[in-house]
This record gives sequence, C-alpha cells and structure tokens, in this order.
Amino acid sequence: MNKIKVLLVDDEIEMLNSIEKILSKRGDLKVQAENDPEKAIKLIERQKFNLIITDLKMGNISGMDVLKKAMLHSPEAKVIIISGYGTIEAGVEATKLGAFDFIEKPFTSKKLYDKIDLAIKEFDALPAETVSDSSIDEQTGIVSKSNQMKEIISLVNKVSQGNMTVLITGESGTGKELIARAIHKLSSRSVNPFVPVNCGALPESLFESELFGHEKGAFTGAVRTKPGLLEFANEGTFFFDEIGDMSPALQVKLLRMLEERKIRRVGGEREISIDVRIIAATNQDIENMVKEKKFREDLYFRLNMMKIEIPPLRERPEDIIPLAKYFLREVCAQHDGKKKIFSERAEELLRSYSWPGNARELQNLVSRASYLCTSTTIDSPDIPIPGVKDLSTLDNSILEMPFKDAKNKIIENFEVAYLTHYLKKNEGNVSKTAEECGIDRRHLHRLINNYNIVYED
Ligand SMILES: Nc1ncnc2c1ncn2[C@@H]1O[C@H](COP(=O)(O)OP(=O)(O)OP(=O)(O)O)[C@@H](O)[C@H]1O
Ligand SMILES: [Mg+2]
Repeated sequence: MNKIKVLLVDDEIEMLNSIEKILSKRGDLKVQAENDPEKAIKLIERQKFNLIITDLKMGNISGMDVLKKAMLHSPEAKVIIISGYGTIEAGVEATKLGAFDFIEKPFTSKKLYDKIDLAIKEFDALPAETVSDSSIDEQTGIVSKSNQMKEIISLVNKVSQGNMTVLITGESGTGKELIARAIHKLSSRSVNPFVPVNCGALPESLFESELFGHEKGAFTGAVRTKPGLLEFANEGTFFFDEIGDMSPALQVKLLRMLEERKIRRVGGEREISIDVRIIAATNQDIENMVKEKKFREDLYFRLNMMKIEIPPLRERPEDIIPLAKYFLREVCAQHDGKKKIFSERAEELLRSYSWPGNARELQNLVSRASYLCTSTTIDSPDIPIPGVKDLSTLDNSILEMPFKDAKNKIIENFEVAYLTHYLKKNEGNVSKTAEECGIDRRHLHRLINNYNIVYED
C-alpha cells in the first residue's frame, strides 16, 4: 500500500520534532514536517497531501489559514488541528469550517494515532479525487474542463490587460457575471471598485440619477447633490448587466458617455471626466434586437469591441461534473464542513440532463441534494432532477431501448411536456415562457421547431 502523505505544521520546533517522532513510529505515514507556516502554505499550493496536521496558534499565519488553503487546493486532504489549552472552542470552530478533527494539547501518542486511523478509514470510503487540479482557475475561481471554457479563460486573461469594452453574452446562469468579475480581478483596476447594475431593475428616471448622479434641486426630493455610481466606479470597472433591458433614452446617454468619457449629473451643467472600464452582459439575442431597432446599433458597436460568448452548459458537457464537484465542495464547506461525494450513478444522471438553467441550476440542485442527503455519498435518488425516479413508472418500450436511446427519449418526453405546459400557461407567448422557465429564447424557439410543439388548447 502507498504511504499516507502527511504534512505536519508547527512553528514551535520542539513540539514539531516530538510529534514527528510519534508519527515516524508508524510505518504507514510519510511525514513532511514544516516549522514555517508560510512555507507550509506554499507546499499545499504545489503538492498533494492526504493528511495535514497543523497547530492552531502560530505567528502571523494560523492553523485556520492552513485549513483554508488546504480546502481550496487539496480538498480531499483531511486536516487535523492541534489546539492548545484554552483554544478548544477554536478547534470546534475549525471542524465546523471543514477540518476533519481537532486534538487538544497535551495528548498521548495513542490519541493522535486514533484520530489518524479515523481519517484513514475515511480515505477508504472516499475516492481521493474531487475536482482535478487543472479544472479550477485559482485566481478567478472559474471551473473549466471543456476547450470552450479554457479558451474563454485565456481570452479573459488577455482582455483584462487593456481597457477595452467587453460584451458578454450567454443564456441565463452560464456565468456572465463571474466572467465580468474575473476580468476586473485580473486587471490593474482590481484595487478599485467593481460596480454591477442591473439595467432592467430600476425605472428609467431613477436609473439615470443612480448612474450619473444628480445636483441638489434637480427634481423633487433631490435635497442634496449626489454623485452617481459611474463616479463611484472611477478607475474601476462598471458592469451593465442585462444591457438589453436599457431604455432607448438611456442608451443615448450611455453612448455619449462611452464616446466622451464624460458624464453630466442630472440637473447639472458641469461635465465630469470619468475613467471606467465598461463590461456589459445580456442573455438576449442582441444582434436581433439591433435588427429590430430595439437596441441602438451605434451603441452595440461601441460595446462589442470584444465579445465573449459563453456557450450553454449542455454544449460543454465535460464541465458538468467538475462544476458539480466544485459546488458540492463549496456547499459542504458552508454547511457543516463534512465532505461529500457523488456516486457514479449520480454523476451519470447529472451528465445526462440538459441543464436549461445552466451552471446556476446545477449549483442550486447540488445545494439541495447536499442538504437533503444525510450520508457522505450522494446517489442518484438524492438528486432532484425532474423526471424519472423509479423504473416502474416507465413505459415498457423505453425499457427495451439501449440506455442512450432510452435516456434521450425520456429527456425528449420531459422537454415536450414541460414546455407545452408553460407555453399553454402563457398563451403561446414565447418570450414570457423563455423568461419564466429560465431558457434562452433562441433555444426555446429551436426546441419548439425541433419537436413541432403545438400549444394551442
Ligand atoms: N465556470 C464556472 N465556474 C465556477 N462557477 C461558475 C461557473 N459558471 C457559473 N458559475 C457559478 O454559477 C452561478 C451563476 O453564474 P452567474 O451569476 O455569473 O451567471 P449569469 O450568466 O450572470 O446568470 P444570469 O443570467 O442568471 O444573471 C454563480 O454562482 C457562479 O459563480
Ligand atoms: Mg447575471
């Protein structure tokens, strides 16, 4: 059997040596002892450990920092925290945050061995891998396995360097805001604010004064001068979310701002120069809106200096499982810190679904499944994907098909039933149905045509 790789961290050299001695008496551990916590953290970033045993109270860097690093870089590692006299509460807190266990000083070798044995037992129960290293981008927190997402990350890295205006498109829940934040984070503007606004959320009059600010007395209720969000975002990044919902009047004002890099507060005369990087996003078919004259062409060209199109999750199925594992890890860390995994059947089910609500739907579903499932392994019946739970409810003809055909048939049946239900409810209004179901309108049109869905009563 391979030896268990252990990282031991304690800034007190005597303590470190004595624990190392205890551990070295067991033949099954390969121990690396480190008395500089900063170095230990660097080691965790570079290497995989099965078990990390760390003192809680050290100098600048505490055992909690080591734990957090481990959870990020080596989520499968079990972390045992050594808490000194009077710090048991912190030890308990650490286990809540995801540490495997804690041990209070002073302790006997037997007690330490027992804890290690318990951890080893869990290794047997859980396969070592969770999210593979290459699928999470450390700096931005973007999970990607598919070539499409990897290309997007490299584009994000490139555009973050300049000041170019970026337009991000993609169905809802594909990660548009995440990408916008990543561009900001990687840019030299990252120390300044990232200000997101939803262009559809406010009435036009309010929105204008929110964005550009207003002078005292500009309108009833403007009792004092107030700078707008664009001024607040100076030297930072401004994110216009749902830009397709911006009113025509505001589109003109935004265009002027983009051309002149100056704004004027509502009711004001003075022009104020501002330096902001603009990122806009939409889940609507903006080219079509331009064609239909619902969105200004000149503004579209200004915004579209660089376009990032995020494909829907169903078109990059390789990302489903890495994303699901990442979301599961996050939800476990927020919940009780106990790690959970998916069974093979569960992964198969996740892969087979078409995810109309994309990563956001996957995130919600993983979160629900994790809360509902009390064991460490989440199995397919724990996953609330609408549809099949029990084979006895299936038509015999489906059961006779090869697995892949059966799966496609069930998905098709489900999609037709689901969409017909909502189209009927909305009296055939495609836009309304798309919005209600969280599906991109173009995708909904395609499905209606492919399946010949007829939705009159
Ligand atoms: N590739 C990814 N890696 C990690 N997390 C992701 C990824 N894609 C999406 N997410 C997560 O999924 C959730 C939805 O993403 P986000 O809010 O960025 O999507 P959106 O396209 O802006 O959605 P909407 O159109 O509904 O506003 C967020 O919690 C985000 O962090
Ligand atoms: Mg969004």
